[in-house]
Amino acid sequence: MRAPALTACLLALALPALAQSAGPASDSVTASRERFARDVLASIAGREHLPADSVFRNIESLKGVPAGRLVRMMNMGFGRSLGVSCDHCHDTDEWESDEKRPKEIARRMLAMVETINRELLPKIEHLKSDQPTVNCTTCHRGATKPALNME
Ligand code: HEC
Ligand code: HEC
Repeated sequence: MRAPALTACLLALALPALAQSAGPASDSVTASRERFARDVLASIAGREHLPADSVFRNIESLKGVPAGRLVRMMNMGFGRSLGVSCDHCHDTDEWESDEKRPKEIARRMLAMVETINRELLPKIEHLKSDQPTVNCTTCHRGATKPALNME
């Protein structure tokens, strides 16, 4: 029952970001993320299409997502949206560790996004989109703390 909604939510996370991914690694945070993502992808070479939970050690929220796509979501969906590199959420010598608080917050944010997309938005009538959707970028827009005021 959970699977289709989660898949839609994950696509929403991945797609807009991938469309923007052609640009050059313009700053050091982007370059750092690209380097970590490349290293992780190299370490799972040949297993990118297997479910993340069979390739990585500590997958709770993104079970069933192909391992390679999980890494791209980390880079474009999470890191880019918040304007951080991987080490904001990870001990990059031990990716499976839950020691850093933002990692657990990110799991809770994923659940929140899923509730908004699956339960709350569909109850609002007369929206322009057939499937109105929010993702990390909707609120974060490159910052760890979403804005409350127009700048
Ligand atoms: C905003 C926080 C956040 C950022 C930034 C982030 N991650 Fe993650 N990462 C997570 C969360 C949360 C999980 C666990 C997902 C789950 O439970 O399904 C995870 C899981 C992983 C895993 C699986 C580790 C294991 O063995 O279980 C890898 C590998 C990973 N991330 C790599 C990266 C890379 C590479 C980057 C940067 C390009 C990155 N992450 C950026 C939050 C983040
Ligand atoms: C509906 C708006 C909204 C969406 C969508 C959203 N967030 Fe957040 N996020 C917030 C708010 C609000 C905070 C709290 C900021 C503060 O501390 O006041 C926050 C905080 C966070 C933090 C802690 C930031 C820090 O200081 O380290 C992380 C990590 C995070 N969000 C990850 C995510 C991820 C990953 C996604 C997408 C799966 C996401 N968020 C989607 C509103 C949102």
